[in-house]
Amino acid sequence: MTTAGSPRRLSPARLRLGVNIDHVATIRNARGGAHPDPVRAAQIVAACGGDGITAHLREDRRHIRDEDLARIQAATKLPLNLEMAATEEMLAIALRHRPHAACIVPERREERTTEGGLDAAGQHNRLAPIVARLTDAGIRVSLFIAPEPRQIEAAMMLRAPVVELHTGEYAHACQDAGGGEQVAVELRRIADMAALAAKEGIEPHAGHGLTYDNVQPIAAIPQLAELNIGHYLIGEAIFTGLEHAVRHMRELMDDAR
Ligand code: PXP
Repeated sequence: MTTAGSPRRLSPARLRLGVNIDHVATIRNARGGAHPDPVRAAQIVAACGGDGITAHLREDRRHIRDEDLARIQAATKLPLNLEMAATEEMLAIALRHRPHAACIVPERREERTTEGGLDAAGQHNRLAPIVARLTDAGIRVSLFIAPEPRQIEAAMMLRAPVVELHTGEYAHACQDAGGGEQVAVELRRIADMAALAAKEGIEPHAGHGLTYDNVQPIAAIPQLAELNIGHYLIGEAIFTGLEHAVRHMRELMDDAR
């Protein structure tokens, strides 16, 4: 209850947690069998407070494989966010599976992970038909971009309803012993671009390299609607179990708002 004269503090919307289960499949694929199954991970995430499942079907199928997608979709009611490169092959797969969302990411075969943001500004003509065809199929398109004004402008031109701001530079700065100043710079960029996106009617998400130690300043950015977190959560799950890892990340995110 609010008392007269005391301003009512509106609680910000719940920040969604999308759990990227790719690296359960990485461990599975190391032995070429069926265990550990990313579907089981998706079911645990669904049971313990995750809001979505994120999976990246890479061109080389190094973790998630084609047949995993339908199995994940059948196993839980959580929305599936399919991370995909902007290729005809991936477009056809997305149109076949119709995930809730498709996050278009840059992909280089030799990279260990998605190292930079998508150059939405420089690739408008290549991306426009892919964004349009996904959108026409009822799939919510997100663009994984660096937190830069020109990329937000490009997302507007492409009519993307969502951008996911790449937090990799922020995460790197957090790892640097003397990175305090750079952490503040990177955090400011992400906060400013979340605000700009929201002002322009684009829903901002964020992800990459987020951990228990660095998630809270990001989770505190009020415009952000969703974080997608994978590698660290799956790594922690080895020690404490996936349920505990997801619940703890959830608590940290809630406490930051
Ligand atoms: N968001 C996107 C678009 C990604 O490509 C990735 C990595 O696959 C993540 C989030 C999750 O990053 P991390 O595994 O470092 O938490």
